[in-house]
Amino acid sequence: MTNPKRFHVKSFGCQMNVYDGERMAELMAADGMVEAGNADDADLVVLNTCHIRERATEKVYSDIGRLRKSARIAGREAPMIAVAGCVAQAEGAEIVARAKVDVVVGPQAYHNLPRLVAEAAAGTAALDTDMPMLSKFNQLPARRKVGPSAFLTVQEGCDKFCTYCVVPYTRGAEVSRPFTAIVDEARALVDAGAREITLLGQNVNAWAHDGLGLHDLIRALDRVPGLLRIRYTTSHPNDMTQGLIDAHRDVEALMPFLHLPVQAGSDRVLKAMNRSHTRDGYLRLIERIRAARPDIALSGDFIVGFPGESEAEFAETLSLVGEVAYAQAYSFKYSPRPGTPAAAMGDPLSAAVMDERLQRLQAALNRDQLAFNRASVGRTCAMLVERRGKLPGQMLGKSPWLQSVHLLTDAAIGDVVEVALTDAGPNSLTGVERVRAAA
Ligand code: 5AD
Ligand code: SF4
Repeated sequence: MTNPKRFHVKSFGCQMNVYDGERMAELMAADGMVEAGNADDADLVVLNTCHIRERATEKVYSDIGRLRKSARIAGREAPMIAVAGCVAQAEGAEIVARAKVDVVVGPQAYHNLPRLVAEAAAGTAALDTDMPMLSKFNQLPARRKVGPSAFLTVQEGCDKFCTYCVVPYTRGAEVSRPFTAIVDEARALVDAGAREITLLGQNVNAWAHDGLGLHDLIRALDRVPGLLRIRYTTSHPNDMTQGLIDAHRDVEALMPFLHLPVQAGSDRVLKAMNRSHTRDGYLRLIERIRAARPDIALSGDFIVGFPGESEAEFAETLSLVGEVAYAQAYSFKYSPRPGTPAAAMGDPLSAAVMDERLQRLQAALNRDQLAFNRASVGRTCAMLVERRGKLPGQMLGKSPWLQSVHLLTDAAIGDVVEVALTDAGPNSLTGVERVRAAA
């Protein structure tokens, strides 16, 4: 195999993978390769994978098959395939055995990607799933041009060990990046075009460095010139400190949105999940957050059909949803993950029961999301213009509450415009421009 010249990175799963995918692209571009707009034009395809649920994992193998088939049909040589991300970490050499891929690289080792690609080109499948002490971040090239809304990973890994979750095994222990490295990267992102930065971490609110907490970091980023909006995700209820709640009250650039997964509404299930918070503790926390920032939009994650979940326990999830009234949420059927404690618990629920519960939960969540969007109609808010819409003159962006908004405007991507929200659907709002803020 010759050294590849044109690469394409395809990221699955969470926003941290999107960030990692961008960093891998920067790395390979710095190594002299050219980015191809799609996989069919590339001679190196990096599949940046997700292991969180079984279907996410299976996607990788079907994607590999599809890539090879498409090359065969077009009469091209099959591209070199590198599997990165959490499937790479969890399955390692097994992927080489099962799918004959060329490179397998874990989420903590991708700074070595150019070397691994060169090794594979020389003829041997290359594998690196180390979790080295020295952070990969120190070994990545500078940030390049980004859109108005950028991601910045500040924390990785998880020490919580929820019994259903693979993350502590694939991403490793909780590690926080140093304060100055993050502030420097935020400045670089703003220089490269970012107006909004979303701080990322599996447990982002567990970020800690030199005695500082996430709220200190947010207050420091609030002073970066040109950075207009700050968000963070994903948070664990137990790491939601008073300092962070206060930041939602005080820091104008910190957007009124919080993704705070609860997973289930029954204390018995929460305990079996090892969530280490109760239903009541979560609800009281939400009350304190709303007291500090009354208009905050709340988002959550839910799992239905955890082993042994009874109908009455599921009903407690529904009633919690009713109490919180989420602005948006993600909900999943429980998926047993190899090596996790829950996978050994037994007492699985039938697919039919899980489907039916997921449907009922999603109906409740959709109802609340639509109600939240409708309640925004009549409000005026700042919207960050992120991209062009399908219609001429139409632009798409986000409200402070992370709702998608479209409007007709001659504002440019990256501008902040004042919009009056006039119409709401389940997934987006329509606005009318009021006054243009100076860019
Ligand atoms: N099955 C179903 N959903 C899961 N999640 C994590 N692990 C599993 C699993 N084994 C969900 C949780 C988490 C989100 C990222 O994915 O809701 O918050
Ligand atoms: Fe997984 Fe729980 Fe850690 Fe979230 S807090 S990454 S669900 S173990």
